[in-house]
Amino acid sequence: MRIIMLGAPGAGKGTQAKKIAAKYGIPHISTGDIFRANIKEGTELGKKAKTYMDQGLLVPDELVVDLVVDRLQQEDAQKGYVLDGFPRTIPQAESLDEALKKVNSKIDYAIDVDVPDENIINRMSGRRACVKCGATYHLMYAPTKVEGICDACGDKLILRDDDKPETVKKRLNVYHEQTQPLIDYYTSAKVLKRVDGTQDMEDVFRAIVAILGE
Ligand code: AP5
Ligand code: ZN
Repeated sequence: MRIIMLGAPGAGKGTQAKKIAAKYGIPHISTGDIFRANIKEGTELGKKAKTYMDQGLLVPDELVVDLVVDRLQQEDAQKGYVLDGFPRTIPQAESLDEALKKVNSKIDYAIDVDVPDENIINRMSGRRACVKCGATYHLMYAPTKVEGICDACGDKLILRDDDKPETVKKRLNVYHEQTQPLIDYYTSAKVLKRVDGTQDMEDVFRAIVAILGE
């Protein structure tokens, strides 16, 4: 099963992608996580990506596409995957389609996790992320047992640099301009499925499982 997660920043793509990956036994491939790991390790790619991410802008397509195409060629992705944060522009979607076509493959589902802008800022300001293992929490909606400490690995939690309200507004604008057109793109490809992302996390997941099958 080859799945793309669509939706605004903070819509819950990462939260649901992790659940999908666990239930269906496919890898969760998040371009945001890949960039954040590179920033943490201080790689050249990380340095380049950070200048865009901190401003709420998209990293240029040429830095993203090859990275994902390479990742999809790895062994664990042959039985399927859930892509989170990619594609994010029409050129990225077209490059992905081209790469898949070459190996006789295609996307089965593009799931749009639909959340209005009003709810997003609130979600982002409460999000806390573990720098070590990548787990995400929310002060109100997904609290940890001990505040500020990751349940999974015991490391400290942080507010992401790009989750400050001003940057979130910018990311929402970028989303509407550059990423939302993908909804039409995948509607035309007849793979778009929409779920109401304002429900609580378990109900969103139930709606997704109803689409993908048990
Ligand atoms: P990326 O990491 O992909 O960020 P994003 O798309 O903005 O998405 P987020 O990770 O912020 O949100 P999410 O939808 O995964 O929500 P989450 O599940 O965490 O990208 C970051 C940056 O990297 C980009 O701005 C760009 O610069 C660059 N980049 C990445 N990919 C790129 C690409 N392909 N091309 C170019 N540049 C790229 O949930 C949010 C919060 O809400 C959490 O705290 C969660 O606990 C909570 N929550 C989740 N679901 C619910 C619910 N149902 N009810 C209540 N709370 C909930
Ligand atoms: Zn952790």
